[in-house]
Amino acid sequence: MSSVFDSPDEFRLDRPRSELGRHVAFGWGIHFCIGAPLARLETRVVIEAVLERWPYIEFAGDAVRNDSFVLHGLTHLPLTVRRQP
Ligand code: HEM
Repeated sequence: MSSVFDSPDEFRLDRPRSELGRHVAFGWGIHFCIGAPLARLETRVVIEAVLERWPYIEFAGDAVRNDSFVLHGLTHLPLTVRRQP
């Protein structure tokens, strides 16, 4: 258990609403990202479009993180996507 989020390294779509407003991916305070609503909309559209085409998605290897302190993220995320189970 971290001091802010339970299992912070896990990507979980079922996090409680009480946790959702406490992340700082879009910054904080006076310089909070002005593009956050657009970024959220784009993310929703992409996830819905992918799941509509390939509802069955599984890991196909290990995720690889980048080394950047500035922009934290993954360089590789091997997946297998299927239309049917
Ligand atoms: C997933 C996508 C995005 C992430 C993770 C993100 C993240 C951030 C973060 C962390 C900041 C704060 C930087 C700071 O405090 O110095 C920021 C600021 C900003 N973002 Fe985004 N951003 C995203 C998408 C966008 C988009 C789509 C736009 C424009 C269409 C945008 C425009 C801006 C602008 C103009 C600022 C500066 C706001 C200010 O300083 O008052 N961002 N963003």
